[in-house]
Amino acid sequence: MKQIINVKVKTRKAEFAASKTDMLVVGRFSDAGPDETIQALDRKLGGGIERLAKLGDLTGKPKTYAILYGEGRIAADRVMLLGLGEQKRATLDTIRRAAAAAANRAVDMKVKRIALALHRSFGDRLDAAAMGRAMAEGVYLGSYRYDEYVAENGNGRLGSLDVQIVDPDAARIKGLSTGVSAGTIVGQAQSYARTVANRPANVINPPALAKIARDLMRGVKTVSCTVFDEKKLQANRMGGILAVGSGSQNRPRLIVLKYTPAKKPAQGLPTVALVGKAVTFDSGGISIKPAQDMDQMKFDKTGGIAVLVTIKTLAELKLPVNVLGLIPAAENLPSGSSYRPGDIVTTYSGKTVEILNTDAEGRMILCDAIAYAAERKCDVIIDIATLTGACVVALGAYKAGLMSNDDDLVGALQKAAEESGESVWRMPTGEEYAEEMKSKIADLKNAGSRWGGACTAASFLQQFIGQAKWAHLDIAGMDVFLKPTEYGCVGGTGFGVRLLMTYLMNLVKEK
Ligand code: BES
Ligand code: MN
Ligand code: ZN
Repeated sequence: MKQIINVKVKTRKAEFAASKTDMLVVGRFSDAGPDETIQALDRKLGGGIERLAKLGDLTGKPKTYAILYGEGRIAADRVMLLGLGEQKRATLDTIRRAAAAAANRAVDMKVKRIALALHRSFGDRLDAAAMGRAMAEGVYLGSYRYDEYVAENGNGRLGSLDVQIVDPDAARIKGLSTGVSAGTIVGQAQSYARTVANRPANVINPPALAKIARDLMRGVKTVSCTVFDEKKLQANRMGGILAVGSGSQNRPRLIVLKYTPAKKPAQGLPTVALVGKAVTFDSGGISIKPAQDMDQMKFDKTGGIAVLVTIKTLAELKLPVNVLGLIPAAENLPSGSSYRPGDIVTTYSGKTVEILNTDAEGRMILCDAIAYAAERKCDVIIDIATLTGACVVALGAYKAGLMSNDDDLVGALQKAAEESGESVWRMPTGEEYAEEMKSKIADLKNAGSRWGGACTAASFLQQFIGQAKWAHLDIAGMDVFLKPTEYGCVGGTGFGVRLLMTYLMNLVKEK
């Protein structure tokens, strides 16, 4: 998938002091002394590291770092000592974030080649392949920048970054390499997801997104890409998608991606449907949103992008599991042809919905796609959507809402969340919430009371899942970084790519 900065991650068997690089990156915990790697380096550097520690300039606290210069005493020009926080609280995500912070800093410093030895601080506590994957993912996330539309690249950033993960031990290098291969594919996928997310609504509208999907899957033998245009949506009576798309000149689409691996999936492995909301711009429609921050609503397509990129990544990794990707795409605008409050819409399932608020459009496009997945007898349906402001009120920008009818599926997604660093928090659905979504003049209405909006929205979707095991990810707070972080620049996060990929990779691994 097309990258903005050309980042390469490789492993290399080498002694740390002998690694020729612009910057060697090692980690340091806040509650432990220097480990062997640091001690050995410090001997060559004449004790400079410990002098920094004594001065209090090297605390090991998260998000802190110090840089020393090699001055010919070691092969590296610089040594970056990165704070890893408390050792007892360190996880795989600690390594991912540290690698991201290093790559992020390297891009800002215009450093071309870095060598990572971050995994050394963890000894054998974590699996080498898992650490390799986390570091590679971190490098791609941290080095990410979005300047496609900046004619003159102001800070003159470099076009490439070369990363070596070094270790003197051959066996460990082997493990790390396995992880780096997977981490590179997933990391590049997530970077590409961020790029498509960052593109504005005058560039990415539903037909343009469909073209990206087609181009991405061209030549990929294991993925079929079918795009439902307006005629086909009409023929299929997909009233929800058509209603939301009715206000815009850019007509709606349903992108259908079917991944059938060359290798037959193991017996008993479920067929999974991934359904992603792609509202390319959400003005609210006739129930128009306030002007403040409306520009952020170009990110209302990010659930759909996560699904698109995940399907492509499955094909690249040749993962043996059947997955159907469904991306309903529409632009929600007010005009003379828009759907209105009070309208009654007949959805693909046959259920009718009274529209109370045209800004509750996500559920209207998702319910058609979810009903389509249920009809195809998918065993598991996972939908992912920037669905409600209420979810952001509840959880902030730290965790995605997770609603489900199946405890095992919740467990699997929580495990994937922990491993991938893309956090989720379970929230309820069920009878009381569903009750609020009943209409007097139609089967359902599209908006409930003021309270519990994330849960009533999920309960609305639950009416369309048939017999499937179902999980809903409300990523409304997770789609965008409002401030720069270790994960690179502000803008799209690509949230969901790592979470969904980890869930599917675990599914295959555990069979
Ligand atoms: N796309 C929005 C949800 C959203 C809000 C995403 C803030 C990211 C940040 C969604 O379509 C929406 O407008 N939801 C309404 C639903 C309401 C009208 C029932 C909301 O949350 O206000
Ligand atoms: Mn809306
Ligand atoms: Zn929306």
